[in-house]
Amino acid sequence: VIAVPAVYSVAWVGGTDGYVRLLDQTILPGEVCYRDCRTLDDMREAICMLRVRGAPAIGVAAAMALVLHTQQAVRCGDLSESTFQRAADWLTAARPTAVNLAWAVRRMTGVFSRWNASRAGDPVRVLLDEALAIREEDAQMCRAIGRHGAGLFADGQGILTHCNTGGLATAEYGTALAAIFTAAEQGKRLHVYADETRPLLQGARLTSWELQQAGIDVTVICDGMAAQVMKEGRVQGVIVGADRIAANGDTANKIGTYGVAVLARAHGIPFHVAAPSSTFDLNLPSGDGIPIEQRDPREITHGFGRQTVPEGVRVYNPAFDVTPADLIASIVTEKGLIRPVSETNVRATLGGPP
Ligand code: MRU
Repeated sequence: VIAVPAVYSVAWVGGTDGYVRLLDQTILPGEVCYRDCRTLDDMREAICMLRVRGAPAIGVAAAMALVLHTQQAVRCGDLSESTFQRAADWLTAARPTAVNLAWAVRRMTGVFSRWNASRAGDPVRVLLDEALAIREEDAQMCRAIGRHGAGLFADGQGILTHCNTGGLATAEYGTALAAIFTAAEQGKRLHVYADETRPLLQGARLTSWELQQAGIDVTVICDGMAAQVMKEGRVQGVIVGADRIAANGDTANKIGTYGVAVLARAHGIPFHVAAPSSTFDLNLPSGDGIPIEQRDPREITHGFGRQTVPEGVRVYNPAFDVTPADLIASIVTEKGLIRPVSETNVRATLGGPP
């Protein structure tokens, strides 16, 4: 049995007059520091700055942010639908690729509209209950993803992952890392290669930290080393998370994921994706329609406190890329494995019983 880190990405503290407490991921692994947010603005800043990050965790955070907004709306006596919708839209724009954000905001907006139609009961209570349900459902989905994904790996294998997909990126436990945690709980000894994940180093700072805490063997590599590590025969499988999956299985994930998928194909290594149903966007027929978040060039030119690009040089900083479905061996969801990856199988798995 392995010990999953007893930290949490985002939590609600107290009752209807409570607030959000989140683990500030920008200062990990140096410090484990929680940050309390009491307003919508605080939460939007935390989401934009990646203090809370990872598609499922962003969804939970956004739901809780709208509870904070509603507390404020009650205090100001402005519980109009248009004010709520403005807050919802402003929050959704914070991170455009991770569809869990829009998904959670839509759920909260629906609950607010239903409350508004009758105006019965405390709106903060109603919204808080929904936000807590979103958090709990995500935790349950992650456990199920772990159970479905663990069978992809055999004892003694080397597994490569990109970015961070553990408890930090979700309500609890994780998606791609959940499959690794569960396999380890089953007694499989895996060796994980964690891409450092330029430019913000989620793999180096967060994934290796979570795996180390869980007692799982982990080695950090620079993103550009993956090809050599595969060529040396150190890796028998790749598993990553997702920020948005189109109906045909095309998958947006952290920049660099597409390259890893191409390398895996070139070396005959299966490439898997793990994500809850809340990460699918079935309105998009393919990945061509997925909006790609563009981030501040300073993340590249001044990463972690030091200028590394000459002044005046142009920088391109897309935060995500799209891996075509035909490079993906399987998608692990809480409802089971989608394999082979096709629109028919995506719809059959997601539409099926839980
Ligand atoms: O920019 P980030 O750190 O939020 O990007 C996170 C990722 O790309 C993760 O792989 C994805 O959100 C899945 S998290 C379970």
